[in-house]
Amino acid sequence: MSVIVWWLATMVMVAVHSASAGVVELNWEVEYKLGWPDCKEGIVIAINGEFPGPTINAVAGDTVIVHVTNKLSTEGVVIHWHGIRQNGTPWADGAAGVTQCPINPGETLTYNFIVDKAGTHFYHGHYGMQRSAGLYGMMIVRSPKETLQYDGEFNLLLSDWWHQSSHAQELYLSSRPMRWIGEPQSLLINGRGQFNCSLAAYFNKGGLKECKFKENDECAPSILRVEPNKVYRLRIASTTALASLNFAVEGHQLEVVEADGNYIAPFTVDDIDLYSGETYSVLLRTHNPTPSRKYWISVGVRGRKPNTTQALTVLHYAGAPEFEHLPHPPPVTPRWDDYDRSKSFTNKIFAAKGYPPPPEKSDEQLFLLNTQNLMDKYTKWAINNVSLSVPATPYIGTIRYGLKTLNYQKPPGKEIMRDYDITKPPVNPNTTKGSGIYNLQSGRVVDVILQNANVLKGRGSEIHPWHLHGHDFWVLGYGEGKFRLGVDEKTYNLKNPPLRNTVALYPYGWTALRFLTDNPGVWFFHCHIEPHLHMGMGVVFAEGVDKIAKMNIPDQVLGCGSTREFLMNRGRH
Ligand code: C2O
Ligand code: CU
Repeated sequence: MSVIVWWLATMVMVAVHSASAGVVELNWEVEYKLGWPDCKEGIVIAINGEFPGPTINAVAGDTVIVHVTNKLSTEGVVIHWHGIRQNGTPWADGAAGVTQCPINPGETLTYNFIVDKAGTHFYHGHYGMQRSAGLYGMMIVRSPKETLQYDGEFNLLLSDWWHQSSHAQELYLSSRPMRWIGEPQSLLINGRGQFNCSLAAYFNKGGLKECKFKENDECAPSILRVEPNKVYRLRIASTTALASLNFAVEGHQLEVVEADGNYIAPFTVDDIDLYSGETYSVLLRTHNPTPSRKYWISVGVRGRKPNTTQALTVLHYAGAPEFEHLPHPPPVTPRWDDYDRSKSFTNKIFAAKGYPPPPEKSDEQLFLLNTQNLMDKYTKWAINNVSLSVPATPYIGTIRYGLKTLNYQKPPGKEIMRDYDITKPPVNPNTTKGSGIYNLQSGRVVDVILQNANVLKGRGSEIHPWHLHGHDFWVLGYGEGKFRLGVDEKTYNLKNPPLRNTVALYPYGWTALRFLTDNPGVWFFHCHIEPHLHMGMGVVFAEGVDKIAKMNIPDQVLGCGSTREFLMNRGRH
């Protein structure tokens, strides 16, 4: 080989290498398929035939390009990249009606965005209740200079599963009177659960029958195979439609080190609580059991009266017998209504050293009162008495092309808090449907105070995990009862609050968070419980409207509603 040819070959290799280091490009086909997620046949949404969808692996700074082809044949689809801030590419956020039109059957849309920050994330459907139908997968963004030290890692994507189709569920929830979907039939770990049998049946005599798996059964648990005296990073994400979860590993403590893609000051616990939309990394140190053995990993329901058996899998030390019962029963999930226990876990979470504290003062204070309401006898969830229904034309298109004047919500301020008795069912349960859109200027420090209240009937108040698109926020604090203006602000943690994208609002309590409007776009902020969102529990932040109006938004995401017409007419001239 001549020197010049060798030199050329080397150059090509270098070029290919640097290109492949910075771009993750994927071709996805989304379609329904028959599956056995919990040992009972059902219909799941698969990506390239896989359920859950394939894990995306990227490095911070990479460009991720996903060509999504909709092969659902009778309905649209979108994919939201949960935890990715989409700085500069708000149109790629994947929220139907907010940042794009659903992709029509047979059509392909290319999402193209930069994953600017390392972290444990996931992706999921964000149209109708397609997340409930199984449209989800993990998204891991690695740091080129990881500071945590560990020998191996596992991804654990947790979800809940119903035997009824998500379409039936949507119909139930929007019937008059509303018919509740009930508790899930199963919990799934990486898309696998057991409905009519129990991995642990051997220990709970008289309960469910013991599972008998054949090799490669779709519902056989995915086992975590480990070596003694090593450190493993478990990346855990909850994409449940409804359930709040507790995760435990028998005989092992968990050192919590990451929450929603941000490092936190490490702390050690026996188990962790996860709300829908949250992710954690925990470090698990293996010991050296002799003889080698297996331990249970359990996932159970919290926050609602459970009617679903635990999801189980196994931590399998190398050399342990393959077919032998575990010596102990699985860990017992803490009592579902022990909220003090949940809060004490939450209150251990602080930012890791090195994160700058939030600005000391905010420019704006936005109160969001969460209520359950009635509208023409339909049951709804409402924020400040508006139950969200997203329009046919995505907000981002309406704003980009100035198609109509949006009806921005007037922040209600203090009155709504002063006059409302959160301990009782609403005196006037009526609500209205609306666009729930708030106008936020760029370059501001915004505080949001989420206020929980009593449900429509009887005594009770539910947990709502709130998730913000396009941002991380500081969690400034939590409190019981009604937020006391001018008093409770003084309890805010301004020293080391954790940065997150999802936060729990506890029954009858309030949660305060702060973020900077440094990312122009249209951002969904909603309860991550799928049925609640379906029933209107969300708002939309239009951030930096003047900047959106000048943005480059691909026509492909605006092929519906009045933007479609507008773009077609524009093409004609
Ligand atoms: Cu994972 Cu809008 O949500
Ligand atoms: Cu909710």
